[in-house]
Amino acid sequence: MVMGFKHFIFALLAGLALLLAVHAQDQSGFISIACGLAANSTFTDATTGLNYISDAAFIDSGTSKGISPDIKASHQQQVWNLKSFPQGNRNCYSINVTRGTKYLIRGTFLHGNYDGQGNLPQFDLYLGADTWETVKVVNSSISVIKELIHVPSLNYIHVCLVNTGLGTPFISAIELRPLKNTTYVTESGSLALFLRLDVGSTSGIAYRYGYDVYDRVWMPTDNSYFKATDLSTSLPIDSQSHNDYRPPSVVMSTAVTPINGSAPLEFNWDSDAKTTEYYIYIHFAEIVKLEANQSRSFNITLNGKYWYGPLAPNYLSTTSLYSPSALSGAATYYFSIFKTETSTLPPIMNAIEIYSVKYFLQSETDQGDVDAIAKIKSTYGIKRIWQGDPCAPKGYSWDGLNCSFDANTPPRITFLNLSSSGLTGQISADISNLVMLQYLDLSNNNLTGSVPDFLSQLQYLRVLNLERNQLSGSVPAQLIERSNNGSLSLRVGDNPNLCGSGSCKKKNTSNVVIPIVASVAGLLILSLIVAAIFLGLRRRKPQVTMVDTESSINQNPSLESIQRQFTYSELLKITNNFERILGKGGFGTVYRGNIDDTQVAVKMLSPSSIQGFQQFQSEVKLLMRVHHRNLTTLVGYCYEGTNMGLIYEYMANGDLEEHLSGEKANILSWEDRLRIATDAAQGLEYLHHGCKPPIIHRDVKCTNILLNENFHAKLADFGLSKIFPTDGGTHVSTVVAGTPGYLDPEYYISNWLTEKSDVYSFGVVLLEMITGRPAIERSPERTHISQWVSFMLAEGDIKNIVDPRLRENFNINSAWKAVEIAMACVSPTSAKRPTMSEAVVELKECLATKVTRTKEGHEGESTDSIEIINMNLTTELNPLAR
Ligand SMILES: *[C@@H]1O[C@H](CO)[C@@H](O)[C@H](O)[C@H]1NC(C)=O
Ligand SMILES: *[C@@H]1O[C@H](CO)[C@@H](O)[C@H](O)[C@H]1NC(C)=O
Repeated sequence: MVMGFKHFIFALLAGLALLLAVHAQDQSGFISIACGLAANSTFTDATTGLNYISDAAFIDSGTSKGISPDIKASHQQQVWNLKSFPQGNRNCYSINVTRGTKYLIRGTFLHGNYDGQGNLPQFDLYLGADTWETVKVVNSSISVIKELIHVPSLNYIHVCLVNTGLGTPFISAIELRPLKNTTYVTESGSLALFLRLDVGSTSGIAYRYGYDVYDRVWMPTDNSYFKATDLSTSLPIDSQSHNDYRPPSVVMSTAVTPINGSAPLEFNWDSDAKTTEYYIYIHFAEIVKLEANQSRSFNITLNGKYWYGPLAPNYLSTTSLYSPSALSGAATYYFSIFKTETSTLPPIMNAIEIYSVKYFLQSETDQGDVDAIAKIKSTYGIKRIWQGDPCAPKGYSWDGLNCSFDANTPPRITFLNLSSSGLTGQISADISNLVMLQYLDLSNNNLTGSVPDFLSQLQYLRVLNLERNQLSGSVPAQLIERSNNGSLSLRVGDNPNLCGSGSCKKKNTSNVVIPIVASVAGLLILSLIVAAIFLGLRRRKPQVTMVDTESSINQNPSLESIQRQFTYSELLKITNNFERILGKGGFGTVYRGNIDDTQVAVKMLSPSSIQGFQQFQSEVKLLMRVHHRNLTTLVGYCYEGTNMGLIYEYMANGDLEEHLSGEKANILSWEDRLRIATDAAQGLEYLHHGCKPPIIHRDVKCTNILLNENFHAKLADFGLSKIFPTDGGTHVSTVVAGTPGYLDPEYYISNWLTEKSDVYSFGVVLLEMITGRPAIERSPERTHISQWVSFMLAEGDIKNIVDPRLRENFNINSAWKAVEIAMACVSPTSAKRPTMSEAVVELKECLATKVTRTKEGHEGESTDSIEIINMNLTTELNPLAR
């Protein structure tokens, strides 16, 4: 049996040098990298005319070395230097290619005793996430060449050297040559070169570029292997036309033919493993001018079975024979080429290529993640060996990175630890493109600038550590919010200029904030502080690690942090699929709900009132900032398509209307009524005079005054009319022009709602509370309550005005004063109406009026039971839905 090819070739290669003459040809698309060449250096190889460039632009690690001079002499210039990688398990070249193009990719490894010690290593070569070959260097003066025919699926390839503990990896040259996509077609997989032979060569020269347009390297092999004689021609092959494989003319012009004219040409090779698949390409050309009585034709068998034939090669023209599908399953592949019975001449063979199939199946990291992390790397000039695919192969992910691996999708970066990495500058926006990130640690760097909002867009983020940087500004509210609801572990301590730290407190009390919000700010900030403390106490698991407690207190966004945007599905959950209706209002239906243990009211706004999200959101955010003990707290909102909702604190005792109309068993006492009126008045006063710009409620009425479990009253629905567009497109006023009976008569003239319009409406409410009568009489005359009271006043009997259900259990003076206030409020001329501040003062006096016994001598009314309402707006904190 003949010796296997591979052993034969290895024996032949020793001491082989490539000696070629230059044939200038088109090198377009070629990538020729001489590793270890000084950055920005280039050269043109004297024998091939190939232009080489330094590898510096393709890798940022490794050590450049030169090979020993005595070895240099017999090798081409691109292997005179090399790059060795004493550091890092995996070092990768990143080379831009044209996706979908078929490339011949060649790595050349010539040790050349560069280390002066002759330590010959073994290491692994990877293409992307998959092993390509093991490189085993057995002779320091012989090049190890690894060649692959491969179609990259991305616009870059990573050629990686992986240290397997058997010596320092190195590489001498990387070359890429585009091939025709019609050649070397496989059913699947890429092709690793097994051998490529220039059969019958007598020159001992390995031909490549200059002769071969694709720069394949053809190893010379003479007739000794084949028990054959050499044939050759001095005439060119394929001078007129050629097939797509285009074996070089110089290679095709030599051939072998058996010495014994009837014997076959034979060759064989052992399979690496039975499962290894091979593709074979045999190139034939007749190079003998046949006489008229001569013929040459032959059949080919593989392992004793007919494979192809008969074939009669054309004179000076190449016929390439190849296996359309992979050869596999045999331990050894025996090829025999027999002359046909009619052939007068024995078979001939000019060139042969054998490849084994390599599969590159492991997907590389998601392109978006790769681009993002590459930018982050360059932005911060990260010094680590961050090369090749960030995630794949598993076990070789970049230092400081973790990824998710899933059989069906490319790996994604889920964990990024850049702690103590000497980062400077701002937090890079590229981080926001790592959308699957769950863990981000940027602590202990010198990062400056603000904590960007985009971090809150990382929806899977569970840990964010920004400690020990130089960040400034304030932490985005959404991050704090997520931290507060337990979905994010946020650490921002030790950033001296980050709002919320000690220095920030000074800023708040300086002239920076206060002039903007004027005097109101004082109250607002004060209530924020209380809110923050409250929050801090209530938080079950403290998730924000603020180094200094005061920092969280003084943080403006802490207000927003209570509130947030909810998704529609969250609303479904909160309301248990809108199970319980609390009521129906002008803007939509109100449902009962629960957030954690806190009850809330969810108002779903009718779809007809849709407006742009931006506007909606800005209005809602404004309203969420309005906090007063007599205003219902807006806890959050939802805006998803046509689903718009507002979430308020829940008010246990419903609205004032229910209590006045007699629906409830208990009758509100005179004091209750005064207190509720005062509460409502204070809420309005705050909207008018405590908010900048002032907020006009526009719809003050009994159903918009809600009572909590302690019968404290709070105004509801304030500011809502602003959220809704006006009907006729008029911007003079909003269309929600109140409710009949409560509407400022001046509005009909001016078409303009002012604070005084709210005062009018309040006056109507007050009259209702005093009298227990509706704003408009249900009788056919539809008398307005103010007209009725005026009429009764003319009679001069207060007792006939006050709600008879109180059975005269009220203080006369107090009642007179209340009616007076109410009548002033409903004055048809707005100028004659008091401001809400004035009304509040009056109402308080009214409430504090000492009980004087009525003539009838009713007892039991005592001011002792009347609580003087504390003006300090911060004494009570609105219940927080959290
Ligand atoms: C993040 O990196 C720092 C510094 O290299 C290290 O001390 C820390 O343990 C790392 N954290 C994690 C969770 O790996
Ligand atoms: C930040 O920069 C300063 C000065 O450049 C340096 O002394 C300090 O060590 C750096 N801090 C960190 C955490 O890198």
